[in-house]
Amino acid sequence: MKTYLVTGGAGFIGSNFIHYMFKKYDKDIRIINVDVLTYAGNLENLKSIEKRDNYSFVKADICDKEAIRSVFADNDIDIVVHFAAESHVDRSIKNPEVFVKTNVVGTAVMLNCAREAWELSDGTYKEGKKFLHVSTDEVYGSLPEDDNAFFYETSPYQPHSPYSASKASSDMLVKAYMDTYRFPANITNCSNNYGPYQFPEKLIPLMINNALTGKKLPVYGDGKNVRDWLYVEDHAKGIDMVINKGRLFETYNIGGHNEKQNIQIVNIILDTLRQMLPDSDPRKEHITKDLITYVEDRKGHDRRYAIAPDKIKAEIGWEPETCFEEGIKKTIAWFFEHEDWMKNVTSGDYQKYYQEMYKEG
Ligand code: NAD
Ligand code: TYD
Repeated sequence: MKTYLVTGGAGFIGSNFIHYMFKKYDKDIRIINVDVLTYAGNLENLKSIEKRDNYSFVKADICDKEAIRSVFADNDIDIVVHFAAESHVDRSIKNPEVFVKTNVVGTAVMLNCAREAWELSDGTYKEGKKFLHVSTDEVYGSLPEDDNAFFYETSPYQPHSPYSASKASSDMLVKAYMDTYRFPANITNCSNNYGPYQFPEKLIPLMINNALTGKKLPVYGDGKNVRDWLYVEDHAKGIDMVINKGRLFETYNIGGHNEKQNIQIVNIILDTLRQMLPDSDPRKEHITKDLITYVEDRKGHDRRYAIAPDKIKAEIGWEPETCFEEGIKKTIAWFFEHEDWMKNVTSGDYQKYYQEMYKEG
């Protein structure tokens, strides 16, 4: 039975990954979730699996070497899936230092502790160990508005935001560990995810929540920046496949060939909400394009991201399964069914963040 150490498992992608893994492997795996529970970490995301015998939660900071060391000392970890990070670009523009601490120093601590636990005296590693570093396509910088330009695994790193710079640094550390110590790892660089449990500071859940509560829909700049959207379960599946089939020391890009301008996304959300709400719902009549408001652009706003997933498809056989039309319906249906989740995460600190970010209540 494989034991997985998942960092950041109480966040958006981490919690979806844990659900995916238990659905697929049930009792045949063990998962230890290490998360310090920042504003983005929410144990409510894991309520349905928290009582399993083969799951445990450790509240710890990935920068805390002693805490991480003892997780490795107490458990024979086979696979590390490293999600824990500060993940929001706008927050990184306001407060870059915590991004460097968590994303760079935290990754260094994770790598060191894994190496300490796994390395044998001759410099090789115990059988079957792997460190999967979860990263982003934002490390590659920005593409021109040309439908034929894509990010490949060989594209140069050109990060622009403090978030992507910190993720690029963490990727470089993983690469350095692979080159210097032959440390058994893979890196995955994925495009923008959406789906259940996503914190409403990110474009899609923010727009869904604002539309449902009758708030303005703040579109940055001209709204024509392009992102390549992937349903989160497809990402979870990709990570699982890279763990099992990825060649050690390789990087794999994960993306869905689903590029859309932000304004297109907002319009699809409005149309889908109107389709899905019953006529008797009083919110329906307010959900119109009039809610859209163009606001000041993000500083250093990357124009276009687009992944070429050729390598992961050819080597591993991964392909996205959920088209955007289906994924957005599933996501909206999930938010309809989890209004309390949204109420809980948008109370308190989120209100403060929202007021500061968008200068309104
Ligand atoms: P998230 O912000 O929703 O979750 C991050 C989790 O990490 C939270 O549970 C938080 O409590 C935890 N965490 C933060 N700092 C920590 C620390 N010091 N110690 C322990 N835990 C800590 O992020 P997400 O969107 O789920 O992203 C997960 C990973 O995937 C990140 O590494 C991110 O860079 C990467 N990624 C995200 C996307 C996306 O679209 N969201 C796309 C590609 C890659
Ligand atoms: P986001 O979800 O923050 O992801 P990322 O910046 O990591 O790609 O933003 C996605 C796109 O949506 C990005 O181009 C910025 C834009 N955006 C808005 O126009 N308005 C908003 O309120 C937010 C949060 C994002």
